[in-house]
Amino acid sequence: MKAIEIKPDIYWVGAVDWAVRDFHGYITPRGTTYNNYLINDEDITLVDSVKHDFSGTTIDNIKSIVDPSKIVNVVVNHIEPDHASSLDDIMKLAPDANMYITAKGEKGLDRMFDTSKWKMNIVKTGDTLKTGKYTLTFLETPMLHWPDSMMTYIPEAKLLISQDAFGQHMASASRFDDDFTTCASNAELEDAVIEYYANILMPFGPLIKSKIGEVQKLGLDIDMIAPDHGIIWKQNPQKVLNMYLDMANGKADLSVAIIYDTMWHSTAEMSLPISQGIQDEGVDCKVIKLRATPMSVAIKELWKSRGCLIGSPTLNNILFPSVAEFLTHLRGLRPKNRIAGAFGSYGWGGGAVKDAYEEFNRMKLETFEPGIQVNYKPDADDENKCYEFGKEFAKRVKEYHSQFE
Ligand code: FEO
Repeated sequence: MKAIEIKPDIYWVGAVDWAVRDFHGYITPRGTTYNNYLINDEDITLVDSVKHDFSGTTIDNIKSIVDPSKIVNVVVNHIEPDHASSLDDIMKLAPDANMYITAKGEKGLDRMFDTSKWKMNIVKTGDTLKTGKYTLTFLETPMLHWPDSMMTYIPEAKLLISQDAFGQHMASASRFDDDFTTCASNAELEDAVIEYYANILMPFGPLIKSKIGEVQKLGLDIDMIAPDHGIIWKQNPQKVLNMYLDMANGKADLSVAIIYDTMWHSTAEMSLPISQGIQDEGVDCKVIKLRATPMSVAIKELWKSRGCLIGSPTLNNILFPSVAEFLTHLRGLRPKNRIAGAFGSYGWGGGAVKDAYEEFNRMKLETFEPGIQVNYKPDADDENKCYEFGKEFAKRVKEYHSQFE
């Protein structure tokens, strides 16, 4: 890739990571990008950096516009290593640059680098930095999604550099939404936004709502949103704002995600009549086997659906390990506005279905009870019961969903 001008004298100087498939445990089938931006104004300013492996790439991109030693300001919107771990390489080239960062960001960077010679400037919401024709206005966004997080707004360019928010883990030759949707599709872009939100931002829905409300109250004129991952929103920035507001308000499809694993196929066999019962009630349904599906995809499918059924065989009186792992991961994401139930097979004592409901209760999810269990292997009578269970669950999902319409 090369530097790309996104606004007059403001350049994308980031890196496309086509190969990454495991992003700190989050599976990224589409790869990702690390976006950072160079403002070639009177005071040359770099906003964010990239993952350390791509230091050389961003430095080459910067060099294609300016001599990096001429950088006067470095803005650090977020200190997670995918955006900050090349800062030491940048600061070696521009040792006199002034760094602009939140107080929490500075504390974090002190733990990651020898910052003793860096010129740190702590900024808060509303603070500004004049670079020449442009003014950078800082907007703290604590816990979106780290304590240090902030965004940078440039009114003269109507540009919001939004760090992780509004991003997607998607490697692409396109930098902008209009190019991407010409070459690929709106549906793929939307899917990538939902997957990113579900896996990273799900716990922060109330904060997202209030922060977007704050931005709206400030009356910021925004015609481009440039996140630190994926596609830049040029044609339709309002689209991603609306998607975030919808998700923060609990929007989901009238559908059910059946997420299960199986030892000797009995739990898998149960999932089929259950899904048929759901469909026969007019509710869409997806069946997802955990060990055949990346965790991040299973999380996304759960998030898209109003109802979720967890299927697990009992192993040593508790949940099957892959199901337990999924539920632990899900609990950390603090899902809301979803209804859950459980099913599974067992040999002697059972325990998995009970454990699943305990997890739902810890997550304070609405539940559909009782779950359904089958001893060893479903026979024809069990299959009928599973079908009826699916029908009853779908009825309950429709009823629960109606409160969000
Ligand atoms: Fe893309 Fe929170 O780092």
